[in-house]
Amino acid sequence: MKNILIIGATGQIGSELTMKLRGIYGGGNVVAGYIKGTEPKGELAESGPSALVDITDPVQIADAVKKHNIDTIYNLAALLSAVAEARPQLAFKIGVGGVYNVLEVARENGCAVFTPSSIGSFGEETPHNPTPQDTIQRPKTIYGVTKVTGELLSDYYARRFGVDTRSVRFPGLISYVTPPGGGTTDYAVDIYYAAVQGRTFKCPIKAGTFMDMMYMPDALRAAIEIMEADPSRLKHRNSFNIASMSFDPEIIYNKIKEYKPEFVMEYEPDPLRQAIADSWPDRLDDSCARAEWDWKPEYDLDAMTRDMLEKLELKFAPKLELH
Ligand code: SER
Repeated sequence: MKNILIIGATGQIGSELTMKLRGIYGGGNVVAGYIKGTEPKGELAESGPSALVDITDPVQIADAVKKHNIDTIYNLAALLSAVAEARPQLAFKIGVGGVYNVLEVARENGCAVFTPSSIGSFGEETPHNPTPQDTIQRPKTIYGVTKVTGELLSDYYARRFGVDTRSVRFPGLISYVTPPGGGTTDYAVDIYYAAVQGRTFKCPIKAGTFMDMMYMPDALRAAIEIMEADPSRLKHRNSFNIASMSFDPEIIYNKIKEYKPEFVMEYEPDPLRQAIADSWPDRLDDSCARAEWDWKPEYDLDAMTRDMLEKLELKFAPKLELH
């Protein structure tokens, strides 16, 4: 990777991945692709170039790739699972049409491509604990349909055209930087904000519903390590199960209470999110990622909780007014 384009650079993953890649490959070599209304700001705007890249417009993608001599594309554009159910046509346009646009531009310009998949690519018929690397993928959500399609198209472009496509299936991602929006796993982010802001947390997911989760620093490292991996060792490409922790609302609530004993959570289940969560794995088996490119997570629930609480306390600390 020398010249990188991030599509969706101002989103939940992109805002942090862009900064991390700029730290490794140099600010000038990582282009932050954004859509109208989400222009990069602050550090993200100042630390390197940016370009208007709407994934539904293949000409915009091709123009940015040619102008900046791009060799690697990180395609992070997506509507998350619950919001995608409200706008399935747009979810398809971004998650299937967009992936096709990126793969075509990559084929024509010799770029490698990372398009994340998700625990959402699995469904009710999938074995849930553990979920093997190669198993049934019959999701019922449009989000899942786009993710499975992205996996298949990416493997097709690798086999048929030699495009260097690689991917991981992300669990629910937890971070204190850019909030997610419209996901099923978002409760595990929102719960920390409520704890730090002293609010009672209304949990949309029922006790006993286990899902894979991951702290953002591990997720960013996975996205970079898979693209740097020795291709001769890869038996799989699109997409690798990765995992670091699995919990239900009770477990994360009790963990936060260890540090904030006054914190209160109540249940207020959301039927859409609950149905989606019930269809997703409890715990992914990530042994292929461990064997083929030495994947290893660093954060468990306790380490993540300590860091999240500390960083959010700083974020919400009253600012000192200097006169
Ligand atoms: N975090 C995503 C969601 O909940 C899953 O990949 O939609």
